[in-house]
Amino acid sequence: MILTEKETLALKELQQQEKVCMEHYTLYANTAKDCGLRDLFSQIAQDEQEHYQMLGEVLKGKIPSFSHAASKADAYHPKAAYDPTSSQTDKQHDALLCADSIGNEKLVSGDYNTNLFQFASNDVRKLLNHIQTEEQEHAEMIYKYKQINNMA
Ligand SMILES: [Fe+2]
Ligand SMILES: [Fe+2]
Repeated sequence: MILTEKETLALKELQQQEKVCMEHYTLYANTAKDCGLRDLFSQIAQDEQEHYQMLGEVLKGKIPSFSHAASKADAYHPKAAYDPTSSQTDKQHDALLCADSIGNEKLVSGDYNTNLFQFASNDVRKLLNHIQTEEQEHAEMIYKYKQINNMA
């Protein structure tokens, strides 16, 4: 597959964004107070690394295969880590990491939505659509975590 200059540029920008996402979640996995949230952020960091690698394949003219597995968000059932006796400072800290991450996922998801239409290849559009769905699932998982922990 031969990419146009415009397509190459768009892919490189998306890939750069995935690198930042990867670093964001790695940092947050090391910063979160609750270990359940640490695990969630580590898991998402791995997804972002996979996105980075898949975009790298496309830049080489290949279409990486991806699984059509069931929604990760549906399978995610977090347990409550915070209750009224917990440290409220820790809870506020983790709530902020969650809110910040959800905001970021919204932006990234929007970028995939915008860029998707620039690609001539149906296969590339399908892949970008798959990645976009995973970004939405990331936000959904973090939202579930917030809800179970009564984080506003
Ligand atoms: Fe991603
Ligand atoms: Fe994401």
